[in-house]
Amino acid sequence: MKKIIVAIDGFSSSGKSTMAKQLAAAVGYAYIDSGAMYRAITLYAMRHGFIRPDGSVDTAALCAALPDIRIEFRYVPEAAASHTFLNGEDVEREIRSLEVSSHVSPVAAVPEVRHALTAMMQQYGEAKGIVMDGRDIGTTVFPAAEMKVFVNASPEVRARRRYDELRAKGDEVDYEQVLANVQERDEIDRNRKESPLRQAPDALVLDNDNLTREEQSAWLLDTFRRIADE
Ligand code: DC
Repeated sequence: MKKIIVAIDGFSSSGKSTMAKQLAAAVGYAYIDSGAMYRAITLYAMRHGFIRPDGSVDTAALCAALPDIRIEFRYVPEAAASHTFLNGEDVEREIRSLEVSSHVSPVAAVPEVRHALTAMMQQYGEAKGIVMDGRDIGTTVFPAAEMKVFVNASPEVRARRRYDELRAKGDEVDYEQVLANVQERDEIDRNRKESPLRQAPDALVLDNDNLTREEQSAWLLDTFRRIADE
């Protein structure tokens, strides 16, 4: 079985991270959550006042700070999971907040931010054997990835998923607010100039509105085995 790169792209909260994580664990690959990297930079920008009160980004200040931003994934034994670290601090929980979600798309639209993160992601993939999820993994980060999946799900199903996750963590959000955020991010992610969210022509499409998690995992694992065995 050869080592490959698996690129899983799709809209926010389409369930791609869960799928990617499960596949990586099942086949012994590393999992890289590229959205977490954009979220960590966004948190940095928020903390340093690079997000203006009107929500726009102070691009010059953020670009100047890029060399000072270090993002890593580290396994946290107490959580039995890999967490995102920003300059040495575990920010896994904070980067998933609605506040970070509402600022991440404009930050992810800054070309210099995308170039810096894309270079970092490409390094992770040098030895292959990784599953990475995001918006442009199969199109820009790894256009030659052996396995590309594009996950589709309706905004309502995705908002319900994100709402349930936030509520389970004790965050006081309402469904309409989460749905509005999902729709707004779709719009920005799809229409930004630099590396917009789009399906790679050679991606396999997974429509997961009506599939259970088990069905998705089985499909993904079968597909992986078929491609890695070729
Ligand atoms: O998958 P997510 O919701 O955690 O991603 C957070 C944001 O990061 C999303 O709104 C768009 C951006 N993103 C991106 O532009 N490119 C990627 N490869 C991954 C995420």
